[in-house]
Amino acid sequence: MLFRRSIGLAALATTALAIFAPAPASAQGELTLYCSVQEEWCRPVAQAFERATGIKVAMTRKSSGETYAQIKAETANPRGDIWWGGTGDPHLQAAEENLTETYKSPKLAELLPWAAKQAEQSKFKTVGIYAGALGFSFNKEQLARKKLPEPKCWADLAKPEYKDEVQVADPNSSGTAYTKVATLVQLFGEAKAFDLMKAMHKNINQYTKSGAAPARAAATGESLIGITFLHDAVTQAVNGAPVQIVAPCEGTGYEIGSMSIIKGARNLENAKKFYDWALTPEMQAIALQAKSYQVPSNKASQVPKESPDLAQIKLIDYDFAKYGSSAERTRLLQKWDAEVRNAPRR
Ligand code: F6P
Repeated sequence: MLFRRSIGLAALATTALAIFAPAPASAQGELTLYCSVQEEWCRPVAQAFERATGIKVAMTRKSSGETYAQIKAETANPRGDIWWGGTGDPHLQAAEENLTETYKSPKLAELLPWAAKQAEQSKFKTVGIYAGALGFSFNKEQLARKKLPEPKCWADLAKPEYKDEVQVADPNSSGTAYTKVATLVQLFGEAKAFDLMKAMHKNINQYTKSGAAPARAAATGESLIGITFLHDAVTQAVNGAPVQIVAPCEGTGYEIGSMSIIKGARNLENAKKFYDWALTPEMQAIALQAKSYQVPSNKASQVPKESPDLAQIKLIDYDFAKYGSSAERTRLLQKWDAEVRNAPRR
Protein backbone atom coordinates (compact mmCIF):
# COMPACT_ATOMS: atom_id res chain seq x y z
CA MET A 1 0.00 0.00 0.00
CA LEU A 2 1.26 3.48 -0.86
CA PHE A 3 0.46 5.15 2.44
CA ARG A 4 0.44 3.39 5.80
CA ARG A 5 0.59 4.96 9.23
CA SER A 6 4.09 4.64 10.70
CA ILE A 7 5.23 4.46 14.30
CA GLY A 8 7.71 6.88 15.85
CA LEU A 9 10.99 5.65 17.30
CA ALA A 10 12.23 7.87 20.08
CA ALA A 11 15.70 6.33 19.77
CA LEU A 12 16.23 7.77 16.32
CA ALA A 13 15.18 11.21 17.50
CA THR A 14 17.79 11.00 20.26
CA THR A 15 20.50 10.11 17.75
CA ALA A 16 19.50 13.04 15.59
CA LEU A 17 19.78 15.38 18.56
CA ALA A 18 23.28 14.13 19.26
CA ILE A 19 24.40 14.61 15.64
CA PHE A 20 23.08 18.13 15.52
CA ALA A 21 24.42 19.40 18.81
CA PRO A 22 25.64 23.05 18.55
CA ALA A 23 28.80 23.32 16.47
CA PRO A 24 31.87 25.29 17.57
CA ALA A 25 31.88 28.97 16.56
CA SER A 26 34.35 28.40 13.70
CA ALA A 27 32.03 25.86 12.05
CA GLN A 28 29.04 28.19 12.16
CA GLY A 29 28.03 30.41 9.30
CA GLU A 30 24.90 31.26 7.40
CA LEU A 31 22.09 29.61 5.49
CA THR A 32 19.56 31.23 3.18
CA LEU A 33 16.37 29.20 3.41
CA TYR A 34 13.56 29.48 0.88
CA CYS A 35 10.54 28.09 2.67
CA SER A 36 7.29 27.12 0.90
CA VAL A 37 5.13 25.84 3.76
CA GLN A 38 3.08 28.04 6.06
CA GLU A 39 4.93 30.90 7.79
CA GLU A 40 3.84 29.38 11.15
CA TRP A 41 5.93 26.29 10.33
CA CYS A 42 8.82 28.02 8.55
CA ARG A 43 9.69 30.18 11.56
CA PRO A 44 10.09 27.45 14.24
CA VAL A 45 12.06 25.34 11.73
CA ALA A 46 14.53 28.17 11.09
CA GLN A 47 14.85 28.83 14.83
CA ALA A 48 15.34 25.15 15.71
CA PHE A 49 18.09 24.80 13.11
CA GLU A 50 19.86 27.88 14.44
CA ARG A 51 19.64 26.49 17.97
CA ALA A 52 20.86 23.04 16.95
CA THR A 53 23.81 24.16 14.82
CA GLY A 54 24.66 27.78 15.59
CA ILE A 55 24.19 28.53 11.86
CA LYS A 56 22.38 31.81 11.23
CA VAL A 57 19.31 31.34 9.03
CA ALA A 58 17.88 34.00 6.71
CA MET A 59 14.41 32.72 5.81
CA THR A 60 12.01 33.87 3.09
CA ARG A 61 8.53 32.36 2.77
CA LYS A 62 6.92 32.14 -0.66
CA SER A 63 4.53 29.74 -2.39
CA SER A 64 5.90 26.82 -4.41
CA GLY A 65 5.46 28.25 -7.92
CA GLU A 66 6.78 31.64 -6.82
CA THR A 67 9.88 30.08 -5.25
CA TYR A 68 10.55 28.02 -8.37
CA ALA A 69 10.30 31.21 -10.47
CA GLN A 70 12.62 33.09 -8.09
CA ILE A 71 15.27 30.36 -8.17
CA LYS A 72 15.08 30.31 -11.96
CA ALA A 73 15.38 34.10 -12.13
CA GLU A 74 18.43 33.97 -9.84
CA THR A 75 20.29 31.30 -11.83
CA ALA A 76 23.12 33.62 -12.83
CA ASN A 77 23.57 34.76 -9.26
CA PRO A 78 22.00 32.25 -6.84
CA ARG A 79 20.98 33.81 -3.55
CA GLY A 80 19.23 30.91 -1.86
CA ASP A 81 20.95 27.83 -0.41
CA ILE A 82 18.08 25.46 0.25
CA TRP A 83 14.44 25.25 -0.75
CA TRP A 84 12.42 23.44 1.91
CA GLY A 85 8.75 22.59 1.48
CA GLY A 86 6.21 23.21 -1.21
CA THR A 87 4.63 20.74 -3.61
CA GLY A 88 6.88 18.32 -5.46
CA ASP A 89 6.02 19.26 -9.05
CA PRO A 90 7.95 22.56 -9.19
CA HIS A 91 10.84 20.92 -7.29
CA LEU A 92 10.90 18.22 -10.01
CA GLN A 93 10.79 20.89 -12.70
CA ALA A 94 13.71 22.70 -11.04
CA ALA A 95 15.62 19.39 -10.93
CA GLU A 96 15.02 18.74 -14.63
CA GLU A 97 16.15 22.29 -15.46
CA ASN A 98 19.33 21.75 -13.44
CA LEU A 99 18.47 24.51 -10.96
CA THR A 100 19.16 22.22 -8.01
CA GLU A 101 22.11 20.17 -6.73
CA THR A 102 22.52 16.42 -6.63
CA TYR A 103 22.79 15.24 -3.03
CA LYS A 104 22.55 11.72 -1.61
CA SER A 105 21.81 12.23 2.04
CA PRO A 106 22.83 9.45 4.44
CA LYS A 107 19.28 9.81 5.80
CA LEU A 108 17.64 8.58 2.55
CA ALA A 109 17.52 5.00 3.87
CA GLU A 110 15.24 6.17 6.70
CA LEU A 111 12.53 7.44 4.35
CA LEU A 112 9.20 5.93 3.36
CA PRO A 113 9.13 4.58 -0.24
CA TRP A 114 7.17 7.52 -1.74
CA ALA A 115 9.72 10.00 -0.38
CA ALA A 116 12.75 8.01 -1.52
CA LYS A 117 11.15 7.56 -4.95
CA GLN A 118 10.96 11.34 -5.32
CA ALA A 119 14.75 11.42 -4.80
CA GLU A 120 15.44 8.57 -7.23
CA GLN A 121 13.11 10.00 -9.87
CA SER A 122 14.94 13.34 -9.80
CA LYS A 123 18.41 11.75 -9.82
CA PHE A 124 18.78 12.91 -6.21
CA LYS A 125 18.11 16.59 -6.91
CA THR A 126 15.04 16.68 -4.67
CA VAL A 127 13.51 14.50 -1.95
CA GLY A 128 10.13 13.94 -0.29
CA ILE A 129 9.64 15.48 3.15
CA TYR A 130 5.87 15.06 3.64
CA ALA A 131 2.69 14.05 1.80
CA GLY A 132 -0.88 15.29 1.80
CA ALA A 133 -4.11 14.82 -0.17
CA LEU A 134 -6.03 17.50 -2.01
CA GLY A 135 -9.69 18.31 -1.41
CA PHE A 136 -11.85 21.09 -0.06
CA SER A 137 -13.60 22.34 3.05
CA PHE A 138 -16.75 24.34 3.57
CA ASN A 139 -18.11 26.52 6.34
CA LYS A 140 -20.99 24.58 7.95
CA GLU A 141 -22.64 27.65 9.46
CA GLN A 142 -22.64 29.54 6.15
CA LEU A 143 -23.92 26.49 4.30
CA ALA A 144 -26.89 26.18 6.71
CA ARG A 145 -27.57 29.93 6.58
CA LYS A 146 -27.56 29.92 2.77
CA LYS A 147 -29.59 26.69 2.69
CA LEU A 148 -27.21 25.11 0.19
CA PRO A 149 -26.56 21.37 -0.27
CA GLU A 150 -23.28 19.90 0.98
CA PRO A 151 -20.72 19.74 -1.83
CA LYS A 152 -19.23 16.24 -1.97
CA CYS A 153 -17.55 15.99 -5.37
CA TRP A 154 -15.29 18.01 -7.67
CA ALA A 155 -18.23 18.24 -10.10
CA ASP A 156 -20.38 19.90 -7.40
CA LEU A 157 -18.00 22.87 -7.30
CA ALA A 158 -19.07 23.81 -10.84
CA LYS A 159 -22.81 23.94 -10.01
CA PRO A 160 -24.52 27.33 -10.41
CA GLU A 161 -25.80 27.35 -6.79
CA TYR A 162 -22.22 27.90 -5.62
CA LYS A 163 -21.75 31.09 -7.66
CA ASP A 164 -19.01 33.21 -6.00
CA GLU A 165 -18.79 30.69 -3.15
CA VAL A 166 -15.54 28.88 -4.05
CA GLN A 167 -11.96 30.00 -3.45
CA VAL A 168 -8.74 28.45 -4.74
CA ALA A 169 -5.23 29.69 -5.41
CA ASP A 170 -3.68 30.63 -8.74
CA PRO A 171 -1.71 27.62 -10.09
CA ASN A 172 1.10 29.88 -11.33
CA SER A 173 2.06 30.96 -7.82
CA SER A 174 0.64 28.04 -5.83
CA GLY A 175 1.70 24.42 -5.88
CA THR A 176 -1.63 23.46 -4.30
CA ALA A 177 -3.57 24.95 -7.20
CA TYR A 178 -1.25 23.36 -9.77
CA THR A 179 -1.87 20.01 -8.03
CA LYS A 180 -5.59 20.71 -8.51
CA VAL A 181 -5.13 21.32 -12.26
CA ALA A 182 -3.00 18.18 -12.68
CA THR A 183 -5.38 16.12 -10.51
CA LEU A 184 -8.47 17.06 -12.52
CA VAL A 185 -6.64 16.33 -15.79
CA GLN A 186 -5.66 12.89 -14.48
CA LEU A 187 -9.14 12.16 -13.10
CA PHE A 188 -11.30 13.32 -16.00
CA GLY A 189 -9.00 13.62 -19.04
CA GLU A 190 -7.73 16.99 -20.25
CA ALA A 191 -10.75 18.20 -22.25
CA LYS A 192 -13.30 17.41 -19.52
CA ALA A 193 -11.01 18.77 -16.79
CA PHE A 194 -10.70 22.13 -18.56
CA ASP A 195 -14.47 22.26 -19.15
CA LEU A 196 -14.93 21.62 -15.43
CA MET A 197 -12.42 24.32 -14.46
CA LYS A 198 -14.09 26.81 -16.84
CA ALA A 199 -17.45 26.06 -15.23
CA MET A 200 -15.87 26.31 -11.74
CA HIS A 201 -14.33 29.64 -12.75
CA LYS A 202 -17.84 31.16 -12.62
CA ASN A 203 -18.00 30.19 -8.94
CA ILE A 204 -14.54 31.41 -7.93
CA ASN A 205 -14.62 34.52 -5.73
CA GLN A 206 -10.83 34.90 -5.69
CA TYR A 207 -7.67 33.22 -6.98
CA THR A 208 -5.31 33.66 -4.06
CA LYS A 209 -1.50 33.67 -4.22
CA SER A 210 -0.97 31.09 -1.50
CA GLY A 211 -2.48 27.62 -1.60
CA ALA A 212 -3.63 27.40 2.01
CA ALA A 213 -5.38 30.80 2.08
CA PRO A 214 -8.75 29.39 0.89
CA ALA A 215 -8.87 27.11 3.96
CA ARG A 216 -8.60 30.22 6.16
CA ALA A 217 -11.30 31.95 4.08
CA ALA A 218 -13.65 28.97 4.54
CA ALA A 219 -12.87 28.96 8.28
CA THR A 220 -13.89 32.59 8.72
CA GLY A 221 -16.82 32.31 6.31
CA GLU A 222 -15.27 34.85 3.94
CA SER A 223 -15.70 32.11 1.32
CA LEU A 224 -18.18 29.24 1.67
CA ILE A 225 -15.83 26.68 0.10
CA GLY A 226 -12.02 26.55 -0.07
CA ILE A 227 -10.04 24.14 -2.24
CA THR A 228 -6.78 23.24 -0.48
CA PHE A 229 -4.81 20.29 0.80
CA LEU A 230 -6.93 18.57 3.42
CA HIS A 231 -4.29 19.07 6.12
CA ASP A 232 -4.63 22.85 5.74
CA ALA A 233 -8.35 22.55 6.46
CA VAL A 234 -7.56 20.33 9.46
CA THR A 235 -5.48 23.19 10.91
CA GLN A 236 -8.59 25.38 10.79
CA ALA A 237 -10.79 22.68 12.35
CA VAL A 238 -8.24 22.16 15.15
CA ASN A 239 -8.41 25.92 15.77
CA GLY A 240 -12.15 25.54 16.29
CA ALA A 241 -13.50 26.76 12.93
CA PRO A 242 -16.89 25.34 11.87
CA VAL A 243 -15.55 23.59 8.79
CA GLN A 244 -16.39 20.29 7.18
CA ILE A 245 -13.49 18.63 5.34
CA VAL A 246 -14.24 16.79 2.09
CA ALA A 247 -12.23 14.20 0.17
CA PRO A 248 -13.95 14.51 -3.23
CA CYS A 249 -16.18 11.57 -4.26
CA GLU A 250 -14.48 11.02 -7.64
CA GLY A 251 -11.07 10.57 -6.00
CA THR A 252 -8.25 13.03 -5.65
CA GLY A 253 -4.56 13.78 -6.11
CA TYR A 254 -1.87 14.36 -3.55
CA GLU A 255 1.45 16.13 -3.09
CA ILE A 256 4.87 14.92 -2.11
CA GLY A 257 6.16 18.01 -0.34
CA SER A 258 9.82 18.29 -1.28
CA MET A 259 13.22 19.80 -0.49
CA SER A 260 16.09 20.71 -2.83
CA ILE A 261 19.55 22.26 -2.52
CA ILE A 262 19.88 25.23 -4.86
CA LYS A 263 22.53 24.96 -7.58
CA GLY A 264 25.42 27.31 -6.84
CA ALA A 265 24.46 27.58 -3.14
CA ARG A 266 26.95 29.86 -1.40
CA ASN A 267 26.62 27.87 1.81
CA LEU A 268 26.59 24.38 0.35
CA GLU A 269 27.88 22.55 3.44
CA ASN A 270 25.28 24.23 5.64
CA ALA A 271 22.59 23.41 3.10
CA LYS A 272 23.59 19.73 3.34
CA LYS A 273 23.45 19.94 7.15
CA PHE A 274 19.95 21.37 6.96
CA TYR A 275 18.95 18.69 4.42
CA ASP A 276 20.11 15.81 6.64
CA TRP A 277 18.46 17.38 9.68
CA ALA A 278 15.18 17.97 7.81
CA LEU A 279 14.89 14.23 7.19
CA THR A 280 15.08 13.32 10.90
CA PRO A 281 12.04 12.50 13.07
CA GLU A 282 13.19 15.16 15.54
CA MET A 283 12.93 17.92 12.95
CA GLN A 284 9.75 16.54 11.37
CA ALA A 285 8.05 16.67 14.77
CA ILE A 286 8.18 20.48 14.63
CA ALA A 287 5.22 20.27 12.22
CA LEU A 288 2.87 19.28 15.00
CA GLN A 289 3.82 22.28 17.15
CA ALA A 290 3.03 24.44 14.11
CA LYS A 291 -0.35 22.68 13.63
CA SER A 292 0.80 21.30 10.27
CA TYR A 293 -0.73 17.90 9.67
CA GLN A 294 1.02 16.50 6.60
CA VAL A 295 2.27 12.89 6.71
CA PRO A 296 6.03 13.05 7.47
CA SER A 297 8.53 11.16 5.31
CA ASN A 298 10.83 9.53 7.87
CA LYS A 299 9.69 5.98 8.68
CA ALA A 300 10.17 6.68 12.38
CA SER A 301 8.29 10.00 12.45
CA GLN A 302 5.03 10.00 14.31
CA VAL A 303 2.05 10.72 12.05
CA PRO A 304 -0.10 13.24 13.95
CA LYS A 305 -3.44 11.73 14.99
CA GLU A 306 -5.17 14.71 13.35
CA SER A 307 -3.60 14.00 9.90
CA PRO A 308 -6.04 12.87 7.21
CA ASP A 309 -5.52 9.11 6.84
CA LEU A 310 -4.30 8.82 3.25
CA ALA A 311 -4.98 5.09 3.22
CA GLN A 312 -8.70 5.88 3.62
CA ILE A 313 -8.84 8.39 0.75
CA LYS A 314 -9.47 7.42 -2.88
CA LEU A 315 -6.11 8.61 -4.25
CA ILE A 316 -5.19 8.63 -7.91
CA ASP A 317 -1.82 7.25 -8.95
CA TYR A 318 -0.51 10.80 -9.48
CA ASP A 319 2.04 10.82 -12.28
CA PHE A 320 4.77 12.98 -10.75
CA ALA A 321 7.24 12.31 -13.57
CA LYS A 322 4.80 13.72 -16.12
CA TYR A 323 3.16 16.56 -14.20
CA GLY A 324 6.45 17.61 -12.59
CA SER A 325 8.15 17.80 -15.97
CA SER A 326 9.13 21.19 -17.29
CA ALA A 327 7.22 20.80 -20.57
CA GLU A 328 3.96 19.61 -19.02
CA ARG A 329 3.85 22.05 -16.12
CA THR A 330 4.65 24.98 -18.43
CA ARG A 331 2.07 23.85 -20.98
CA LEU A 332 -0.72 23.31 -18.45
CA LEU A 333 -0.12 26.67 -16.76
CA GLN A 334 -0.21 28.48 -20.11
CA LYS A 335 -3.41 26.66 -21.04
CA TRP A 336 -4.98 27.48 -17.67
CA ASP A 337 -4.12 31.18 -18.12
CA ALA A 338 -5.55 31.25 -21.64
CA GLU A 339 -8.65 29.14 -21.16
CA VAL A 340 -9.67 29.35 -17.50
CA ARG A 341 -8.32 32.57 -16.00
CA ASN A 342 -9.57 34.55 -19.01
CA ALA A 343 -12.88 32.70 -19.45
CA PRO A 344 -16.10 34.71 -19.09
CA ARG A 345 -17.68 34.66 -15.62
CA ARG A 346 -21.31 35.14 -16.62
O1 F6P B 1 2.13 24.36 4.27
C1 F6P B 1 0.93 23.98 3.76
C2 F6P B 1 1.01 23.54 2.34
O2 F6P B 1 -0.28 23.13 1.95
C3 F6P B 1 1.99 22.41 2.03
O3 F6P B 1 1.51 21.15 2.37
C4 F6P B 1 2.22 22.60 0.57
O4 F6P B 1 3.37 21.97 0.10
C5 F6P B 1 2.30 24.09 0.46
O5 F6P B 1 1.45 24.61 1.49
C6 F6P B 1 1.87 24.58 -0.86
O6 F6P B 1 1.73 25.96 -0.81
P1 F6P B 1 1.40 26.78 -2.11
O7 F6P B 1 0.15 26.21 -2.70
O8 F6P B 1 1.16 28.16 -1.58
O9 F6P B 1 2.54 26.68 -3.02
